Amino acid sequence: MPKNYYITTPIYYVNDSPHIGHAYTSIACDVMARFMRMSGFKVRFLTGTDEHGQKVEIAAEQRNIDPQNFTDEVSKRFRGLTNLLNLSNDDFIRTTEERHKNGAVALWNILLEKGHIYLGKYAGWYAVRDEAFYLEKDLIDGKAPTGAPVEWVEEPSYFFALSKFQDRLLEFYEANPDFIQPNSRRNEVINFVKSGLFDLSVSRTSFKWGIKIPQNPEHVMYVWLDALTNYISALGYPDKTALYESFWPADVHMVGKDILRFHAIYWPAFLMAADLPCPKRIVAHGWLTIDGEKMSKSIGNVVDPRDLVDEFGLDQTRYFLMREIPFGLDGNFSKLAMQNRVNSELANNIGNLAQRTLAFINKNGDAKVPSVDVAALYNESLLAGLLEKVEGYQQFMKMQKFSHALELVIEIANNANGFIEVQAPWALRKTDLNRMAQVLYMLIESLRYIAILLLPFMPEAMDKLLDQLSVNKNERTFEYLNQAFALKPEVNLPAPQGIFPRIEINH
Ligand code: MSP
Repeated sequence: MPKNYYITTPIYYVNDSPHIGHAYTSIACDVMARFMRMSGFKVRFLTGTDEHGQKVEIAAEQRNIDPQNFTDEVSKRFRGLTNLLNLSNDDFIRTTEERHKNGAVALWNILLEKGHIYLGKYAGWYAVRDEAFYLEKDLIDGKAPTGAPVEWVEEPSYFFALSKFQDRLLEFYEANPDFIQPNSRRNEVINFVKSGLFDLSVSRTSFKWGIKIPQNPEHVMYVWLDALTNYISALGYPDKTALYESFWPADVHMVGKDILRFHAIYWPAFLMAADLPCPKRIVAHGWLTIDGEKMSKSIGNVVDPRDLVDEFGLDQTRYFLMREIPFGLDGNFSKLAMQNRVNSELANNIGNLAQRTLAFINKNGDAKVPSVDVAALYNESLLAGLLEKVEGYQQFMKMQKFSHALELVIEIANNANGFIEVQAPWALRKTDLNRMAQVLYMLIESLRYIAILLLPFMPEAMDKLLDQLSVNKNERTFEYLNQAFALKPEVNLPAPQGIFPRIEINH
């Protein structure tokens, strides 16, 4: 029986069009989802849109459209992003769908029945941009610590008794040391919880765009309680569906560092309060700046993923975002860095290795996998070193260390390119055809490893490369990375085609 694996992106606010920050989280999840499928897991990958709340209501008002039509339109752009980026998500949830509202109301009712929600009055600061409440003491120069403007809110409100869960949360983090990744973020969360939790306002009355509280329809549900529930409503909750039974608790909620607190504190507290299991892991990634600056509409430096795909290609975009910045850290995005890396690592290194090797075989090797003694060649260091690389790659991938995993694959390509120079098959063609065949075989066998290891990152380009290596469609997963499934001598190879053109962009 394959093991199940459930991974989610945050659901995106529909007040805005998709940008590179959204693409970043989604691509990371897609890479992970594809990696786990290729590792033999039955994967469920969820993404979607967060459509309620004051921020979305205001955005709709500003455009003079009613919020439902507005969210219908913007949500489509996020669905479009899944196609643009070739995401392999199994579902796309919108919080305005009935299935979601049912789930959110069911969770609310349980929290209320179990006595964890009570009616009171909220008086304090609220930042619409963050959809978050802030304490007076946390404000910096009259703004939220995130820089978002805050407003004073006084209204009747239901509260969730978060303060009661402080000890249970701390025990939970203690018992599950990997729950929050990376570790530096884990300490941040623990310190925050230790500093004392206040009960959380979970309903609003000063606007309308949200899920109505069944007991008191003047109130709409706080958008984060609504939104977090998507991870279970998409599985059919409150019904104990086969999907729910198979995939809850989630294996990974991938989030940006800005929304870690909601996922690592509020969400487990809601679930504990409802006697539901908590997710296994929250992975927080860093933030991208653009040419060294914060990305913002007012600066006018917002990067549209569509432009990157048009200029650099889809797989190049996916590769670059996972390769450039160690996952978990903040980092900078610039088109110049992208051009340099795509050219040096994809065009000049991997692309060139494939092109020169396959073109040479096509011309001088009968367009067939060379006829050699495979077992003997697996003793030579180029092939013998591959298994260790595969293991290292898998370790890194399991920890979401994508850039490190990619570095190992680049090393394989470096080794193979170095091998060509030393062995000089063009010279062997005149002196030692037998050795030439061996050299070419080791090169294309290395390419098979490279292509399979890069499949989660660049599914289209690597499928093309594997086609050019005549690797069966059903032999493109990690279990085939060994000698038993090595390329078979004498198999025909199609005419090679370039996979990664050099990019020249005028900046
Ligand atoms: N709707 C909430 C999430 C609810 S999940 C139950 C939300 N949406 S968002 O659209 O504002 O952000 C979604 C994701 O995009 C977050 O993980 C956030 O970190 C990420 N990014 C937005 N801008 C970013 C960068 N500049 N860099 C990297 N990721 C960033 O929050």
